Amino acid sequence: MITTHVVPDARTAGSLVAERIARLVRAVPAAVIGVATGSSPLPVYRALADLVDGGLDLSRVTWFALDEYVGLPPEHPESYRSVLDRELVAPLGLDRLRVHVPEPGSDPYAAAAAYEADIVRAGGIDLQLLGIGGNGHLGFNEPGTPFGIPTHVAELTHATRRDNARFFPSLLEVPTLCVTQGLGTIGRARAHALIATGEAKAAAVAAALTGPVGPECPGSLLQRCPDVFVALDDAAAGGVEPTGQEIDAVR
Ligand code: F6R
Repeated sequence: MITTHVVPDARTAGSLVAERIARLVRAVPAAVIGVATGSSPLPVYRALADLVDGGLDLSRVTWFALDEYVGLPPEHPESYRSVLDRELVAPLGLDRLRVHVPEPGSDPYAAAAAYEADIVRAGGIDLQLLGIGGNGHLGFNEPGTPFGIPTHVAELTHATRRDNARFFPSLLEVPTLCVTQGLGTIGRARAHALIATGEAKAAAVAAALTGPVGPECPGSLLQRCPDVFVALDDAAAGGVEPTGQEIDAVR
């Protein structure tokens, strides 16, 4: 079931998702949480940092990133390891060793298989935090990716590389390959939280939440998932109707 919350701005959307995560951790202190990079989850991490300041204990949580570029050393400022160190580990005071990120190194195919096995060994993901690409991608599962695929090496589309070029000196420096949790991996998470903000996401959000279900829109996988919490700002919501109770969710 998908519960959709529509709020005026990204900050409030971030607070809603942070509260959803906190609800899980209060119930299951050793929860396994999947995390995303990119711009969308930043307000979630900021709101979570406030909750940690207020006493939320994340010390027993295990974290798994969605994806990592192939060809960037972990210490590169735009590797997802570095981004998560900066945006998640440091502000929330996490133990870095509890935050897993694929390590493509010299053998990304072996790294993808090892990462999938690590997630299984951890007991699977309790809650997967997601952003969505303008083309509907989840993780780096681009349109056309089969729903059942495990963690794998994927090629970034030109559109995704162009979107991500804002983080690099030029488009040429955006990697072309990544290791990403597959749609099979993402779909097996026991719950999901999607945050999308800004007008550029409106079409992808509408397709994911209300369009036909199939690989042409990877985000439409969420329509098959049992517990999906969606937080949108007005611009990303476009015509999508809210089904959630914002007042209850923002405490
Ligand atoms: C990030 C990821 C991607 C992003 C998506 C949206 O780990 O896997 O799917 O969630 O590209 O990116 P932003 O949030 O930067 O618009």
